[in-house]
Amino acid sequence: MRKKHVFIILALLSITILLQAQQPMNTMVVHADAAKDTISKNIYGHFAEHLGRCIYGGIWVGEDSLIPNTRGIRNDIVAALKKIKVAALRWPGGCFADEYHWMEGIGPRGERPKKVNTTWGGVVEDNSFGTHEFMDLCEQIGCEPVICGNIGSGTVKEMSDWVQYLTSDGDNPMAQLRRKNGREKPWKVRFWCVGNETWGCGGIMSAERYSEELARYSHFLKNYDGNTLYKISSGGLPEDYNWTETILKKWKNTDGWLQGYVSGYSLHFYTVNDWNKKGSATNFTEKEWFFTMKKTLEMDELIAKHSAILDRYDADKKIGLIVDEWGNWFDVEPGTNPAFLYQQNSLRDAVVAAVNLNIFHKHCGRVKMTNIAQMVNVLQSVILTREKEMVLTPTYYVFKMYSVHQDAVMLPVDLKSDVYANGTESIPALSASASRDRNGTIHISAANLHPTKAQTLRCELRGSAASKVNGEIITAETINAYNDFGKPETVNIRPFTGAQVQKGMLTVTLPARSVVTLEVK
Ligand code: AHR
Repeated sequence: MRKKHVFIILALLSITILLQAQQPMNTMVVHADAAKDTISKNIYGHFAEHLGRCIYGGIWVGEDSLIPNTRGIRNDIVAALKKIKVAALRWPGGCFADEYHWMEGIGPRGERPKKVNTTWGGVVEDNSFGTHEFMDLCEQIGCEPVICGNIGSGTVKEMSDWVQYLTSDGDNPMAQLRRKNGREKPWKVRFWCVGNETWGCGGIMSAERYSEELARYSHFLKNYDGNTLYKISSGGLPEDYNWTETILKKWKNTDGWLQGYVSGYSLHFYTVNDWNKKGSATNFTEKEWFFTMKKTLEMDELIAKHSAILDRYDADKKIGLIVDEWGNWFDVEPGTNPAFLYQQNSLRDAVVAAVNLNIFHKHCGRVKMTNIAQMVNVLQSVILTREKEMVLTPTYYVFKMYSVHQDAVMLPVDLKSDVYANGTESIPALSASASRDRNGTIHISAANLHPTKAQTLRCELRGSAASKVNGEIITAETINAYNDFGKPETVNIRPFTGAQVQKGMLTVTLPARSVVTLEVK
């Protein structure tokens, strides 16, 4: 009798273990019946600073260059950027913004003063790329400009004049000057950063001091002729919640003054494991891969915590959280100028981009714009250039594949993921997000952070009876695969057939170290 019981128990146990082994460890519910917030296309924004070869050589080659260009701006770059639907572009910095005096960058190019870029390498800044060239770039790409004003070494007059120069159609000194410089009609400029990292390179201010400056500057940045500014407050260090609290308190308590002025609050967060030892962009271990993923996931907590403060002061979500600098920051490529921040871009960057974008989608009720740092040849770029050559990076392809989410309605997801462990630490192996576009098509994007293990995900599409699925994938043989000059592309978007759907139940097997986007109908 006893033996028989033991046998039955053992048999049941084995069956359970067997069944568990066959069950996918990853499950997800996509709430297609609970759509609420829209994923602003501006989440797909970029950042271009006068830093290294981002502007000069990367975007701007000048009208006399042998590299094909339109009014000095590289044609190949513009064509590539249009394909990923760049929504917004932040300029001229970064830290450079606080040493930039816009009046030096207008008028005949030969007469513009040359100066030293003291922030980034002490190189000559000849001001050949200025306001008109930047606005031309945005028009050529078809994106919205995001201008970062100089609080650190500028004046209220200088910044308010810049707004007038750009946006006024009236009879006033700045609009007249713009006309004299060849632009009759004003431009439309919505996004305006009232300073950059004002805790550091933007003026080394305290939160209290900056909140006063924010009010003073914002008051004098006027709306002209139907142009309405969306003014963005500088944030503090990523985890400085006191800074957020101080600015928001001021925002709430100035008799409505600041509430009428400031519409956005900035958060900067870079993926860096150790600022003193950032590591190579391409020559890294699995341990470094793991810690890069782990660090990137901190973005979720940062956004959640800053949003919780914003929610207390601004329950109606009038203020957008603007993540206007994010991305991987590694060591510069050997032999390049350390101040130019030029780094290669591998499959690891692609997965990091996907994880960040999934996080931004999740928080799109509050996150209204983000700008990856930086567009060309600096940090986590989407494009690298060498003279007339151009390379599209793995990050570029994530932006291309994910562009289907722009202005789509976010579908909340409940993801229960297997773990990816390294030593004693672990993180979720999967990251995912979903949206429904204007045509009713659902897109699900997922990244498998595990470098060596495929993950099967079983997904319920609640509220949808979808029965057709197509997919695309970005992956490679190795974790550090990258695209290089003069070589065939190693990392690109390829068709993906590892998903099946039936009556709203989707099963997908994500290969190790991959990013996938599925279209379900
Ligand atoms: O993107 C490089 C620099 O990082 C920016 O200039 C600055 O804002 C940040 O610290």
